[in-house]
Amino acid sequence: MAAELDYDLILEDEFDALCLDVTGDAADNTSSKPVKYPAKLHARRVAAELGCDSGLVYLPGMPERLLEDSDQPQQFRQRRYFLYMAGANFPDCHVTYDIAADRLILWVPYVEPREVLWYGAKPSTAECMRRYDVDEARYVTQLPKYLSLWTSAHRGRTLFALHADQAPVGTDPDARLNVSLLRPAMDRARVVKTDYEVAMARRANAVSSAAHRKVAQLLLRRLRSERDVEAVFAAVCTAAGARDMAYPVIAGAGENGSVLHYGENDQPLAGKHTMVLDGGCEWHGYASDVTRTLPLAGKWTPRAAAIHAIVQRMQDECIAGVRPGARFDHLHMHAEDVAVDGLLRLGVLRGDRDDVLRAGTVAAFFPHYLGHHVGLEVHDVSGALPIAAAQGLGLDGGKRAMVTPKDSLRMRADRAAETSGHASSRARERQDLRPNMIVTVEPGIYFCRSYLEGYFLDDPVHSRFIDADVLEGYYPVGGVRIEDCILVTRDGNENLTTAPKGEELLDVINGRA
Ligand code: GLY
Ligand code: MN
Ligand code: MN
Repeated sequence: MAAELDYDLILEDEFDALCLDVTGDAADNTSSKPVKYPAKLHARRVAAELGCDSGLVYLPGMPERLLEDSDQPQQFRQRRYFLYMAGANFPDCHVTYDIAADRLILWVPYVEPREVLWYGAKPSTAECMRRYDVDEARYVTQLPKYLSLWTSAHRGRTLFALHADQAPVGTDPDARLNVSLLRPAMDRARVVKTDYEVAMARRANAVSSAAHRKVAQLLLRRLRSERDVEAVFAAVCTAAGARDMAYPVIAGAGENGSVLHYGENDQPLAGKHTMVLDGGCEWHGYASDVTRTLPLAGKWTPRAAAIHAIVQRMQDECIAGVRPGARFDHLHMHAEDVAVDGLLRLGVLRGDRDDVLRAGTVAAFFPHYLGHHVGLEVHDVSGALPIAAAQGLGLDGGKRAMVTPKDSLRMRADRAAETSGHASSRARERQDLRPNMIVTVEPGIYFCRSYLEGYFLDDPVHSRFIDADVLEGYYPVGGVRIEDCILVTRDGNENLTTAPKGEELLDVINGRA
């Protein structure tokens, strides 16, 4: 990928501006245009998950909206469930799928010529037929009539909508509306990616990886602040055709690296040892999610090196465990074991290994779940079963969930019960990984003073396992997280993320690669 993108990024000191020259293939983003969006395949998957042989699925896309008390548009972001079934990534569309007739219709807005003058045209119905694999593309003005004819011709059949407030307006009041089945059915469909979706995720990862590489290349030569880092990252993605970020860039230097979703990105790099850079763009709506931790002087301080080595081992060993049938909560516990061994070796943790694990104290330093699904959302749907172990404590199964000592203990208790043949229903309901799922593996170790002082250092259960004097020396490390997007394959996994890490990252930073 790096060879495909040929940039010369120049930070102009005087104007604090970013100039970007794009040459070669990178200027021609059309060459990477995707094939037809497989809307029909996705619609059939949803119908199969619904388990119904008739009915009409109706999904409205996102309307164009203005900012409050303003004539300026809100940044457009297509509704994800709509995007999955239709592929159309522009405002004011709708989609219908007649299950029995196997007929998928995309409804698109007609744009008046005077609107074209101001805002340009939207794809015509003919263009939509070329772009998206739908049976028909029609103008939205005909939709009310279609819906009213459909409901009167199919009395007793169900109209499936995602939410009550997304039911189509003006349909027959006698139509049977169901708003409870569609979302779980779509979640089950979305959690296992189609080959098209994998291709999009692969491309998103390639662009994000090139952006991470560019930051590493410029780190010692040109970048002086977290702001510079964010600007370079976004510039590379935008120039490659990926203008939307899957989430706000996290560029946290020094102690800012201990804030999981740090977002200010406005501090100088000078005087800091490490930087957590968590950045991922979207490609045609599909997210990537990539983190690297960089040594800001081009080499690690001894403490940062030690923490980085532990996290790299957590990640390497967990990625090696990603395969069909593997359980993510088991991988998470393995990462915890590696963290405990490493932190005991460094003297940050003290005491007996099993006692430390039985107290769950590792969650002081590794306070989030090992990963999550990635797809049309960066924290994508997880299907019928949660990937996360922390489900049930108000933590959503699909997200980078918080893991507290209690969660850690519960995971271990569940595993012990399973081993002895007494699995709790919670444990039985956790998800096995399946081919074509895409998950992040993103272990981290953080030294967040507020969190540690607020919940651990004064707590007799945990404080006896933490050496506060040794810990003091590790606060400047901030945090270390390493995150890749991993595709589950038939016989193991493939790492979709190609951003440099380990020795290669050091070589790139120091101009040796
Ligand atoms: N970038 C958000 C996450 O890693 O989950
Ligand atoms: Mn993530
Ligand atoms: Mn991330």
